[in-house]
Amino acid sequence: MSADHPEHPDHPIYVTQPFLPPLAEFMPYLEKIWDRKLVTNGGPFHQQLEAELAAYLGVQHLALFTNGTLGLLTALQALRVTGEVITTPYSFAATAHSVLWNGLKPVFADIDPDTCNLDPDSIEAAITPQTTAIMPVHCYGRPCDVERIQKIADTYGLKVIYDAAHAFGVQYKGKSLLNWGDLSVLSFHATKVYSTIEGGAIICPDAKTKQRIDYLKNFGIADEVTVMAAGINGKMNEVQAAFGLMQLRHVDDCIARRGEIARLYTQQLAGLLGIRVPDDAPHTVPNHSYFPIFIGPDHPLSRDAVYDRLRQRGIHARRYFYPLLSDMPMYRGLPSAAKDHLPVAHEIAAQVLCLPIYPALSDADVMRVVDILRSALVYEGWPAQTVAQDGVAVAVSAPVGEPTGRLIERRLGSERRV
Ligand SMILES: Cc1ncc(COP(=O)(O)O)c(C=O)c1O
Repeated sequence: MSADHPEHPDHPIYVTQPFLPPLAEFMPYLEKIWDRKLVTNGGPFHQQLEAELAAYLGVQHLALFTNGTLGLLTALQALRVTGEVITTPYSFAATAHSVLWNGLKPVFADIDPDTCNLDPDSIEAAITPQTTAIMPVHCYGRPCDVERIQKIADTYGLKVIYDAAHAFGVQYKGKSLLNWGDLSVLSFHATKVYSTIEGGAIICPDAKTKQRIDYLKNFGIADEVTVMAAGINGKMNEVQAAFGLMQLRHVDDCIARRGEIARLYTQQLAGLLGIRVPDDAPHTVPNHSYFPIFIGPDHPLSRDAVYDRLRQRGIHARRYFYPLLSDMPMYRGLPSAAKDHLPVAHEIAAQVLCLPIYPALSDADVMRVVDILRSALVYEGWPAQTVAQDGVAVAVSAPVGEPTGRLIERRLGSERRV
């Protein structure tokens, strides 16, 4: 039973839930906003949050935005990107949409099956004389192959803008992952590890670029009489910034709880036939923003059947990222969107299932998800029996007709026969 809903053992569980501290914690911030009557346009909370976030994340400069999508749009403007931008089909719509909204051409490259991030060889193969930038995504907060991507960018003279919407607080080789590339863009949407309800930020390495970004997010206004470019309104308001300051006091605890949940899932799902749980990313301090699993061809059910089964039992897992961006109507006509050009992305999109993970999720709720995934292995017509392992009852099954049977549950490492 959930700590949240002790009386309802069957309450619905969504893939995520925003962390909200007691309302009383937010009131003093609101009182300050009411007293000051400064509600937007780079107010004191906005300035404070930019400084605190830069320090927390270990980055030089950070420009807040009202959401991550406007951050992506502005990042492309800030670097004056033209022509073609190589990006991933395995992402949220905002990634490719930001390219299209800038009048640029997205060019899809394939992904690596283990990281779900752009495959550097595929990036290199997609470069044309029109290519000016690469927009990779640190999918699920797992670092892209940043070293190889930088090498490719340096060799061909390309800009790199990381869609780092999932990568808040991730460390790679002892430093913030967000320092890689020319710019990185975070999302602080309510579904993210760290949230300002709606919000985002561009991370940049120098004050001059931040100045340009600050102008661009405020209609291009440089001073009372100067508009330096056709900027947009991307400003974060004071209520969002105050919410962000409050959240920052809790984010370490939130990430720590996510880590516990990820470890419980990993331990409980280890060895289940047909379910792949990604390995820990090397040299990385993760943020556990998502918990993807992959339902492979050796699973008795399809990914969608597992998804439906979870749903019927109140568990709202999500197929991030299915369908691929390259299959959406505004992109599928592109030559780079052809299915045979993106075989790995298609395979992964057909297998992925992101399981619920958020700070308030109880261990009992995690076990509810795990138990459904285990019972999904008991396929129609396959005789099932229940055995106890580590004091936990688990379902095992064997295909009919196999005299000794094949034990589906392989938590103890090696496959055993029953
Ligand atoms: C990979 C990725 N890019 C961009 C965005 C857009 O961010 P926002 O919702 O803050 O506009 C999201 C999620 O919302 C995302 O998951």
